[in-house]
Amino acid sequence: MSSVPLNLPGGLPDPAELARLASEFFATLPNGTRNPNWSAPEVGLPDIDTAPVASPYLPAGYQNASPPAPVDSAEVPQDVPANGLAQNVPQAYAAALPAIDTSPASPHGGSVPSTPYYFLGESNGYPSTKPSGGTPPDAPETPAPTAGLAQNVPQGYAAALPAIDAAPQGAPGPSTPYYFLGEASGYPSALPAGTALPDAQSYKLPGDNDLHGLLATDEPALRSGGISAARPADTGSSYYFVDPARYPGPRGSHAGALPNAAAGARPPFDVNAIRADFPILQERVNGRQLVWFDNAATTQKPQAVIDRLAYFYAHENSNIHRAAHELAARATDAYESARKKVARFLGAGSAEEIIFVRGATEAINLIAKSWGDKNIGEGDEIIVSHLEHHANIVPWQQLATAKGAKLRVIPVDDSGQVLLGEYTRLLNSRTKLVSVTQVSNALGTVVPVKEIVELAHRAGALALVDGAQSVSHMRVDVQALDADFFVFSGHKVFAPTGIGVVYGKRAVLEDMPPWQGGGNMIADVTFERTVFQPPPARFEAGTGNIADAVGLGAAIDYIERIGMENIARYEHDLLAYATHGMLLIPGVRLIGTAKEKASVLSFVLDGYQTEEVGKALNEEGIAVRSGHHCAQPILRRFGLEATVRPSLAFYNTCEEVDRMVAVVARLAAQRRTPHH
Ligand code: ALA
Repeated sequence: MSSVPLNLPGGLPDPAELARLASEFFATLPNGTRNPNWSAPEVGLPDIDTAPVASPYLPAGYQNASPPAPVDSAEVPQDVPANGLAQNVPQAYAAALPAIDTSPASPHGGSVPSTPYYFLGESNGYPSTKPSGGTPPDAPETPAPTAGLAQNVPQGYAAALPAIDAAPQGAPGPSTPYYFLGEASGYPSALPAGTALPDAQSYKLPGDNDLHGLLATDEPALRSGGISAARPADTGSSYYFVDPARYPGPRGSHAGALPNAAAGARPPFDVNAIRADFPILQERVNGRQLVWFDNAATTQKPQAVIDRLAYFYAHENSNIHRAAHELAARATDAYESARKKVARFLGAGSAEEIIFVRGATEAINLIAKSWGDKNIGEGDEIIVSHLEHHANIVPWQQLATAKGAKLRVIPVDDSGQVLLGEYTRLLNSRTKLVSVTQVSNALGTVVPVKEIVELAHRAGALALVDGAQSVSHMRVDVQALDADFFVFSGHKVFAPTGIGVVYGKRAVLEDMPPWQGGGNMIADVTFERTVFQPPPARFEAGTGNIADAVGLGAAIDYIERIGMENIARYEHDLLAYATHGMLLIPGVRLIGTAKEKASVLSFVLDGYQTEEVGKALNEEGIAVRSGHHCAQPILRRFGLEATVRPSLAFYNTCEEVDRMVAVVARLAAQRRTPHH
C-alpha cells in the first residue's frame, strides 16, 4: 500500500483518525443502518484524498508535503472535456465549500472534499472501487481503464475499429478526441487523425465445433426438456472442473488446447480490449473483481456512452426544437441524430418511425393506450405468449378489462419454446393484435417472431415484437420481420436508463391518436381545439430524455463498430460454454433449454433457495438476478416461483463463467438435503 502523505493542518484528525472515521462512514448506509457488505480494507489509509501529490487543486490548508507549482488559470482547460475525472475533481468550487445539511455521521466534518467522489454527497454508503495507490487484493484480469477521457479515447476498442456504415469507406480510426460523437458531430474536432487499429485477436474461446464436441455428452440432457442433468457417473471426481478430460478449465488452458481456427476465420473480437471500454467491470465487490452476470436486468455502459453524456451536458445541453439559438441547434441535432441511428439499428424505413420513450414498458403502454384504445373493442382478442415479461402482459390485461376484450396465451413446450401449432389455433377473425417477445428474459428462448408476425398478418391482426432482450444479442431488422411495432429499452443495450424506443410502421403510427398531451406534440393550440404534430413528435409530449437519447445513439455506434454478428457469435460460444459447465453440476436444473437461446441461463439448485445461491455468488463478487424476473407466469409453467438467472453479455468471459460454476459446484458439494 502506498498512501499519499498528508500534511494536515492542526486541529484536524490525523491520518489514523481519518482512516477510522472513513471506515465508520463507509460502514454506514445512508439510512443510518450498518452496511453488511462493508469491511475495512486491510490497508493503512483508506481510499481517500487521491488528488495527485502536490496537487495545485487541493483546497487551501490541505496541501500535501510538496509545495504546489503556481497555476495560471489559463492552464485550467475550460472548454474541452479532455481533462478526466481525476484531474477535474479538485477544481470543483462547490465541492470545496462546506457541505450543507450533511449527515452528522460524515467523517469529513462536512467541510472539505476528502475523496475524488465528491459528487456522491451523503448518498455513498459503499466502499470505493479499490484502495487507491495500493495493490488490489486480486489483480484485475484486464488492464484498468485509464482515468480520464483524454487518455482513454485512443484506447477505446470500438472507437478504434473501422466505422461501419457511418464514416466514408476506408475511414481510419478515431480522428478526434470526440470519437464518441460518431457521424453526429457537426462541430469541429480537436486532434489530428492517426490512431492505429488494435491487433486482431482471436476470441480466445472454443469455436463452434469444439464446443459441440464438448457438449456432445450432455446434449441429450439439454434437449430432453431441461431436466436435471446429473453429472455423468464415469468422471470419478466430485469436482468435475478439475477433471481436464471433462472440463478443460479456464479459458487460458481451454483455448490453448484448441485449434486457432477462430483467429483466421472470424473478424477480430478481443474481449479483453472490449472489457477495458467498460470501467465498471473493474469494480470490486466483496474483495473480488466484479462479474456482471445480470445483463438481462441491465447492461453496463462503455466509456464512449459515459463520455457522450458528459459531452452533451458540457457542450450541447438545451431543450430541443424550440429556440433559435446555438445550443438548441446542437441539442436538437444530437437528439435527432440519435433517432436516425436507432432507425438504422432497427432497419426501420425512416427516422419518423422511431418514438423515444422511457423504456420498453412505457413503449408497450403507449401502444396499448393509443393504438389499443382506438382499435380494440368488445369481444376482440389479443394474443401474447406464455413467455412474456409482465410489461407485455399487464397493459394488455388492463386494456382487455377496460374494453371487454380477451387475452389469449400461446403455450410453450418443456424446453420453453412457443408451440406454433397451438398459436395457429388461437388465431381467428377476432384477433386484433399478437404481442410477443423476441427473447425471453426469464429463460433466454429465442422466439420465432418472423413466423409469428406472418401468421398474425394472415389472420388480419397486427404484430408487436418486444425486443427488450434481443437487441443486445442479435441483429434486428424490423422490415424483414415485418413487425408493425417493435419496442426496446436503451439500458439493455449498453445505453443509459430512462430511454427506450417504439418503432411503428409509418401508416400505423399516422393512424394513432396521441396518448399524452402537452408541449412538443402540437402544431397549433387554441382553447377550442389542438392540431397535433405528425409522428413521432405526436407521441413525445413534454421535454423528453434528450441526453439519454443521445447516449443511446452512442451505444448504438459502439456496438455497430464491434459488429452485431461478432457479438452474437461470441455470445453463442460463451453461452454454450456456460451451459456445459452448469449442466455438469449435480442438482442443477436448467430452466429454459430451447434449441435457440440467447444469453440467459436460468437454473435452480437442489437443496437451495434461489436467493441463497444469489447470495453465495454475490459473496464472490458475482452479480446474478434471483427471483421471478418479472415473468411469473412462465416460471409457474415450470412449477417454480423463482430461479437463479445469470445472463451474459459480450464483455463476459469464460473465466467469469468458471468462477460462477465453481461457486455453484461448491454449494452442490455442500448440499444440506439429499440430492434426488
Ligand atoms: N426485465 C428485467 C429483467 O429481466 C428487469 O431482469
